[in-house]
Amino acid sequence: MKIMITGSGGREHALAAAFLQNKRVENVYCIPGNGGTEDLDRCENVELSAITDIVRFASEEKIDLVMPGSEASLVEGIADRLQEAGIKVFGPRKNAAMLEGSKAFAKDFMKKYGIRTAGYRSFTDFKTAMEYAEKCPLPAVVKADGLAAGKGVIICRTGDDIRNALTLMMIDKAFGSSGEKVVIEEFLEGFEASIHCFFDGETFVPLLSAKDHKKIGEGETGPNTGGMGVVVPNPGMSEELWADFTSSILEPTKKGLLSEDLRFSGVIFFGLMIQNGKCSLLEYNMRMGDPETQGMLAMLESDFTSLVEAAVSGELSNTEVRWKDGSACCVVLASRGYPGKYETGFKISGIPEVTNSAVHPAGMKKIDGIPVTSGGRVLSIVSNGHSLFEARKRCYREVEKVSFEGMTFRKDIGLL
Ligand SMILES: Nc1ncnc2c1ncn2[C@@H]1O[C@H](COP(=O)(O)OP(=O)(O)O)[C@@H](O)[C@H]1O
Ligand SMILES: [Mg+2]
Repeated sequence: MKIMITGSGGREHALAAAFLQNKRVENVYCIPGNGGTEDLDRCENVELSAITDIVRFASEEKIDLVMPGSEASLVEGIADRLQEAGIKVFGPRKNAAMLEGSKAFAKDFMKKYGIRTAGYRSFTDFKTAMEYAEKCPLPAVVKADGLAAGKGVIICRTGDDIRNALTLMMIDKAFGSSGEKVVIEEFLEGFEASIHCFFDGETFVPLLSAKDHKKIGEGETGPNTGGMGVVVPNPGMSEELWADFTSSILEPTKKGLLSEDLRFSGVIFFGLMIQNGKCSLLEYNMRMGDPETQGMLAMLESDFTSLVEAAVSGELSNTEVRWKDGSACCVVLASRGYPGKYETGFKISGIPEVTNSAVHPAGMKKIDGIPVTSGGRVLSIVSNGHSLFEARKRCYREVEKVSFEGMTFRKDIGLL
């Protein structure tokens, strides 16, 4: 079996490694992959970016299954194009990818199907949005409708904050066409959890919950990043919350997907805010998260390839997912300056010393066999433990073995 994964992060490295554990997988092609995926046995990096080229390559190489990584390619319709070419794909077609690609579309869907979420209004007209800012309850959250690489959400404490956010998005076009429409929503207090669910068009199979750390600074301070670490499962996710998530969010989402004919094989990521024992849905993502994937796969006992195959062939209802006991902790090592400007090209030492945990390179390349930094998030380290405490301790012990000029990481991943 031949697998193709698009993307170049730590997530893609973890996915490739997970697929390769199954001996039926002859080859994994990473498009374009990174300095870690090129080192994996039976894994090859291929430099392609246009969807047309990716589809052509997949057809020519007779790829059995494609796992698209980036939300942008899904919204652009990579799954539709691959399916038209007769290639199986783990990911939504364009119509369902819009649940991630448009915040307003997602909110309207949630409202229509009674999925618990923050109250909201959508605007395409700047003047009307500015008028609403006068009377809008505070704090409020202003969101660019389209994809904005995790930067299109602004928490506003004052009316001025709202007006500035609207100006930034709708007039200055800081997020290009993604800000032509905006959503202004009610601010929810609480703690966050994320839950991935596999979907085969009929059946949902929830994976473990995750607690991710998106801010660059300790204590959730400073700007948002792609993600600085994660623990799995989320220690705040009780059985009661799972029951509430299932009835208030998962079931009505399924009903909506079936009623609107948004069936697909792939994964839905539910971004939750939990307040007073109740889950509200902040957003859908329509692909696996980074670094949630790294944490999740470290906990997975079942064979990942078989699980993905079950989703793609509509057999999730007969599939049981087994998990390891305990917890996983994943810490991301980043370049100094990230998520702003940073320098690259620094030699990375110590990776071979990490023996007790998985290393997933991301912004790393090899020059004459030597690993050097080539991106903002350089690599992630994931450790398992019988408890969260043990997983954290093991992970941070491994982190100490790795070093590069300007290495930056959060010391509070998984701290309660
Ligand atoms: N209604 C809300 N109330 C409180 N915080 C929110 C709300 N919506 C979003 N946030 C915060 O902003 C972050 C990003 O918002 P999200 O909707 O997940 O967009 P994206 O991940 O596409 O940037 C969330 O993880 C959460 O911390
Ligand atoms: Mg989010």
